[in-house]
This record gives sequence, C-alpha cells and structure tokens, in this order.
Amino acid sequence: MPIREKFLVFGSPLIVDDEINEVVATMRSGWLGTGPKTAKFEQMIKEYVGTKYALAVNSCTAGLHLSLISAGIKQGDEVITTPMTFAATANVICHVGAKPVFADVDRATMNIDPKEIEKKITEKTKALLPVHLAGRACDMEALTAIAAKYNLKLINDAAHSLETEYHGKKIGCFGDLTAFSFYVTKNITTVEGGMVTTDNEELANMIKIYALHGMSKDAWKRFSDEGYKHYQVIYPGFKYNMTDMQASMGIHQLKRIEAGAVRRKALWEKYNNAFRDLPCFVPAPVEVDTRHAYHLYTLLVDLEKLTVDRDAIMNALHKENIGTGVHYTALHLHPFYANTFGYKKGDFPNAEYISDRTLSLPFSPKLTDQDADDVINAVTIVLNRYKKS
Ligand SMILES: Cc1ncc(COP(=O)(O)O)c(C=O)c1O
Repeated sequence: MPIREKFLVFGSPLIVDDEINEVVATMRSGWLGTGPKTAKFEQMIKEYVGTKYALAVNSCTAGLHLSLISAGIKQGDEVITTPMTFAATANVICHVGAKPVFADVDRATMNIDPKEIEKKITEKTKALLPVHLAGRACDMEALTAIAAKYNLKLINDAAHSLETEYHGKKIGCFGDLTAFSFYVTKNITTVEGGMVTTDNEELANMIKIYALHGMSKDAWKRFSDEGYKHYQVIYPGFKYNMTDMQASMGIHQLKRIEAGAVRRKALWEKYNNAFRDLPCFVPAPVEVDTRHAYHLYTLLVDLEKLTVDRDAIMNALHKENIGTGVHYTALHLHPFYANTFGYKKGDFPNAEYISDRTLSLPFSPKLTDQDADDVINAVTIVLNRYKKS
C-alpha cells in the first residue's frame, strides 16, 4: 500500500474564490483581452517590487526575450548565464541570435558563481543573465560590479523570485531588467504569464511596444470607450501581451503573496528538520541580509550513501503517490546545447553534481499538514530503504 491513497501533484497552486470570481466577472464584462485589469496588475507589481515600470507579458520566456531585444543583444553577441536553469533562460539568448555562454554555479547556493563569470568574458560578451534559483538571491554585489566593470547589461531571470530581496531591495530592482514568471507552479500564478520590471523609461517603452505587435503605446485602448485611436507600427513586434483574464487571477494571487510565503517558510523548516539525518543534503541556509522566495524545496540525494540513483528515488516516491520534480538537468548536457555549442559532460562540474542529485518535493501553500507529513514519511522510508549498510 502506498503512503497516500491519492497522488500528490507537484506544484499544484492554491486557487481560491477571490480569483475565480474575478475571472468570471471579467468573462461577463465584455473586455477579456489586454485592458484595465492588466494595467491594475502592472501597477500592483510595480508597487510590490519598487520599480518605476512593470510591463505585463504572457510568460517569463516572452519577458526575457523582449528584455534581450530591448537591451540591444543581437546576432554574434555572447550572454553569460547559468547551466543550472530551465531551457527558457538560454533558449531566448538563441532566439536573438546570440550565444549562451555558461558559467558554473556554486555547489551550495546552486547560483552562478561570479568567479566563473569573469573567466568567460570575451570582447563579444554583452550581457549577464543570472537566475535566482529556487528563490535564492544571487550575489548581486559581485554581479553588479562585473556588469559595471565590463560594461555589460544585467538582466535577471527571476522566474522563481518575486519575493526575493538582496540587501533590503527586491531582486527586480537590480540590473537593467528583470523578468518574472506566473506559470502554474510559481509562487503566484496567472496560468501562463510574466512581468518585466525596470527603472529605465526607454527600455520600458520598447518592451511595451514589442509585446503587442510593435504597435504604438496604449494601442490596446483603440477599442475602449475613449474613442477609436489609430496606432502606428514602430517595431516588428510579437504577440506577447497579457490578457485581463490572466490579470484577474494575478491581482488576487498577489494580494496573498505574503501569506503563501509564510506557509512555504514553515514547510521549509519542517522539511529541513525532518531530513537532516537522512542520506541527503538539505538546502543551504539563507544568506545574511537576503530574503529567499522559497519557491522550490530541493533536496540533494547523497549518492555516496545510497545504493541507487536519484531517478530510482523519484520513482520510489511516485509509487508512494508523491509527485516530485527535477530543477534541473544541467542545460549544457541537453542535445541542442551540446551539439550546437560543443558543451560536454565535465564542463561544469558543480552544475553536473547538482543535476545528478537534485530532487524537488511538493512545496505549495496548498499542502495540508497531512500532505506535508506524507511527503516526510515517504522520503524517510524511501531514503532509508536504499541506504548503504
Ligand atoms: C528559471 C526559469 N526561467 C524561465 C522560465 C520560463 O517561465 P515561463 O514558463 O513563464 O515562460 C521558467 C519556468 O519554469 C524558469 O523556471
């Protein structure tokens, strides 16, 4: 008999009546596309992050793509990023014709290592694209200094880190541009969705225009009660706009962001206490004067103390009806990156070490105490079952 009768879905979000009612009201309102609720959600994010501008888009991927374009990254340029990330981070670098140059991570923080970045800088390097993995802030003092020293753009992949702070400021305030994700598994969700924050008016205008076919600013108002407005196409833009249906969810999800953070922090501590003596490594302590967004709870299984690999542990947990995730298989080992850029096993030892061992456990505020106890029981039983004698 599995520990649980019902499968515990990894990353299932907490959705309540507030957003359900708002979505229904939007459907009845007649205005479903980009409109006043998207503008309201932008305003709320701007206030939460503390930047001058917030631009809503339909994914973090879209936000990163537009950030690179508006930062002027193009064919032949190099962008330094981490191999310990989701494909989107590096795919968008390829989308603008630039080369993703990976720099290895720190084993404890799992974030890009500033010392490794400096080794990778060439005259083609034009930008840094750090990822604040799992919600843990990168070393922004070091990254900001490198960007200034080599005149590089600094674009944050903050898909995991809306709440993340570094030295008292939200991560979205650092660098030139920051992209957030509101995908279903994220700390707040609009099903699919994203946001770019910046203090730079010129970049903000470009992103706004590029996100909606390259049409002049506020083109969405052309059908509003302000009267028809002609628009002009300024750039060959994209269809990356957020809709009011999505924003309807975001507005209410954002109102509960701090409540979700409190719940995930409690789960984090509960897991840490339960797993400390098992054949695994719990996440590193949170760095002083930073705030972790507690987006993912990632254990590293201790392969040296186990008779099986990480995938066997995952499969055993699935048999106990516990859903898990892998964040991530090191990106340079995926066929496209290996074949196109010649990356190979051994290039980034720390990312590969994590890639072989990392295992993400259910961590949503939707988890009940019983769900969390089931996760703890299953992990304890499975890791002890495969422990070397
Ligand atoms: C680190 C990272 N970057 C970018 C993305 C892309 O986000 P989206 O799905 O909103 O495009 C994700 C999504 O999972 C992610 O985890």
